[in-house]
Amino acid sequence: MSLLGAAYLWVKAAHLIFVIFLMAGLFMLPRFFVYHQEVPVGSDEDRKWIDREAKLLRIILNPSLVIVWVLGLLLAYDIGAWTMGWFHLKLLLVVALSGYHGWLGGYAKKLARGERTLTDKKLRLLNEVPGIAAAVVVILVIVKPF
Ligand code: HEM
Repeated sequence: MSLLGAAYLWVKAAHLIFVIFLMAGLFMLPRFFVYHQEVPVGSDEDRKWIDREAKLLRIILNPSLVIVWVLGLLLAYDIGAWTMGWFHLKLLLVVALSGYHGWLGGYAKKLARGERTLTDKKLRLLNEVPGIAAAVVVILVIVKPF
């Protein structure tokens, strides 16, 4: 039974708008971390980066994640996506992406405490992960290969 009816496409549009905000944030935050780690712990610049990271998480990343999940689950309910193969893999990838999001939040807290456990090289490498995951997700939802 369709819950959304004619609103389905509007909900899908809103889903995608917040996916864009979420992905932008997921690309930006590890970049911030790289720049942040270049400044001395306890400096003025250090405090500014801590503030920028907290704001990016609070204003863009966390609200977008919640909205993407709520709208995505509404869409899934509407089309009965639970039985579709592409949806299972998409769900796995978006759960992983959400885990990555949570991990980034944790690393921001570490940086705020002056702990810098990852090298710049590792952070840059990690930045490839959301791009690859998003590419696979888009192929899954558009092509629906299985
Ligand atoms: C977080 C949980 C998410 C759920 C439960 C979810 C679920 C869904 C569902 C059921 C659709 C409708 C597919 C259709 O109409 O055929 C959809 C559309 C879409 N989703 Fe998600 N989604 C989620 C997150 C994401 C993320 C993180 C991305 C991108 C990285 C994404 C990208 C897309 C795209 C591009 C479409 C449009 C497909 C089309 O035009 O038909 N979604 N999503």
